[in-house]
Amino acid sequence: MSTDEPAGALRLRDFPKLVQLRREAKERERLLREPDLTYLFWESTLRCNLRCAHCGSSCEARSPLRELDTKEILATLDTIAEDFDTSRMFVSITGGEPLMRKDLFEVVAHMTRLGMRSCIVTNGVLLDARNAARLYDAGMRTVTVSIDGLEGTHEAVRGKGSYRAALAALGHARAAGLTTIEAVTCVRPANLGELPEIERAVRDAGAELWRVITIDRMGRGGLGGQESSDLWLAPPQIRTLFDFVETRRAELERERSPLDVRFSCGGFLGVRRERTVRPESGQCFAGSAIASILCDGQVGACPSIPREWAAQGSVREQRFSTIWRERFETYRDLEWRKSGPCEGCSWFDTCLGGGLHERLVQPEEFCWLDRQGG
Ligand SMILES: C[S@@+](CC[C@H](N)C(=O)[O-])C[C@H]1O[C@@H](n2cnc3c(N)ncnc32)[C@H](O)[C@@H]1O
Ligand code: SF4
Ligand code: SF4
Repeated sequence: MSTDEPAGALRLRDFPKLVQLRREAKERERLLREPDLTYLFWESTLRCNLRCAHCGSSCEARSPLRELDTKEILATLDTIAEDFDTSRMFVSITGGEPLMRKDLFEVVAHMTRLGMRSCIVTNGVLLDARNAARLYDAGMRTVTVSIDGLEGTHEAVRGKGSYRAALAALGHARAAGLTTIEAVTCVRPANLGELPEIERAVRDAGAELWRVITIDRMGRGGLGGQESSDLWLAPPQIRTLFDFVETRRAELERERSPLDVRFSCGGFLGVRRERTVRPESGQCFAGSAIASILCDGQVGACPSIPREWAAQGSVREQRFSTIWRERFETYRDLEWRKSGPCEGCSWFDTCLGGGLHERLVQPEEFCWLDRQGG
C-alpha cells in the first residue's frame, strides 16, 4: 500500500522493528571488531559474451587484466580451506560471465570437495541443459540468472537473443536438479511497469526466488555511459518499486506461495520499509563477513566496490588469510562514515552509514532515505 509519509518517519507501531534494527547494527559493529568470513565472491573473469548497456564492470569479450589461471585459483581455495571454516562459507561466482571460463566446472568441484557451497550469477546464454548438469555434478545447488525485463526491455540492455536463453536457463537449472533457482532483475524506468509480468515470466520459467535491485552508477551504468534517467529510478519510482514488492511479499505470504520476491540492495531504507520489502537487514558486511577474490587475484570485499579502493593485496603475493587478517582497515572503521551526508544524521546508529559500494560509487546518492524523496 502506498504512503505519503517520509521514508524516515517513525510511527509508534514501528518501535519493535527499530529495536531489532538497532540490535542488528550492534551485531555489525561487533563483526567489524571481530571479522568472521562467511561469504566469498569470486570474480571469475571480466570476459563476457554480452555487452550490457548497464554493466557495472564494463565487460567485453577480452579481459583488460591478467586473470588467475586454474592452478592459481585452486591453490588460493586450498589456503582458504586450511585457514577458515568452509562449512560455513558460501561462494558466489560472478564476473564477467562465469561460464566463459572453461575450467569453471573443475573449480566448482574443487570448492565442493573443500566443503564450500557455491552459486553462479549468469546471463544464462551458455547455461544449457549440458552445462546445468555439469554444474550439478560439480556440486553446485544454487544459480542466479539475470532477467532485466520482458523480451524487449531485457534485450534493450542485454542484446538480441539473450532473453529466451536466460529464461530457458532457469528451466535447465531446475531440470538438472539444482535446488535454489533465482532470477535477479535490475529495475530501471523502462521495466518498472512490467514488474507483474516479469514476476509471472520468471516464476513460470522455474524461479522460486526473484530479487529486484536498482542500477549502480558504475562502469557502463555510470553517468558517462547512458543518459542517467534511462537507468536511474527517481524517488517516486523507487516508492513505486517498494510498494510493488511490499504488496507482493504480503500477498505471496498469505497465499503460502513457494515464490519469494524481495528487494535486495543494501542500505537502511527507513524503519517503515525495513522488513516489508526484504526479510533480512540491509546492513553491509563488506570486509567484516564478506570478501572477494577479484579476477586478477586482488582481494577486496564485494566486486562492486571500485577496484582502486577494494584491492587490499594480491593472492599472487600473499596468503588470502593474511590479507583478510591484516588489511581491510578502512572497511572496518566506522568513523569516516560519519562524514558527508551522514554527519549528524540521527539514524546513524541504526544505519551505520549506508552500503559501502553504493557510498563509494555514488557518494551523493547512496542514502536510501534521500533516494525515496526524504
Ligand atoms: C556483473 S553481472 C555478472 C554475472 C553475469 N554476467 C550476469 O550478467 O548475470 C552480476 C549482476 O550484476 C548486475 N549488474 C550489472 N551492472 C550493474 C550495475 N551497474 N548496477 C547494479 N547491478 C548491476 C547484473 O545484472 C547481474 O545481475
Ligand atoms: S552485466 Fe553480466 S552479462 Fe552483461 S556485460 Fe556485464 S558481465 Fe556481461
Ligand atoms: S544519511 Fe547516512 S546514516 Fe543517515 S540514513 Fe542516510 S545513509 Fe544512513
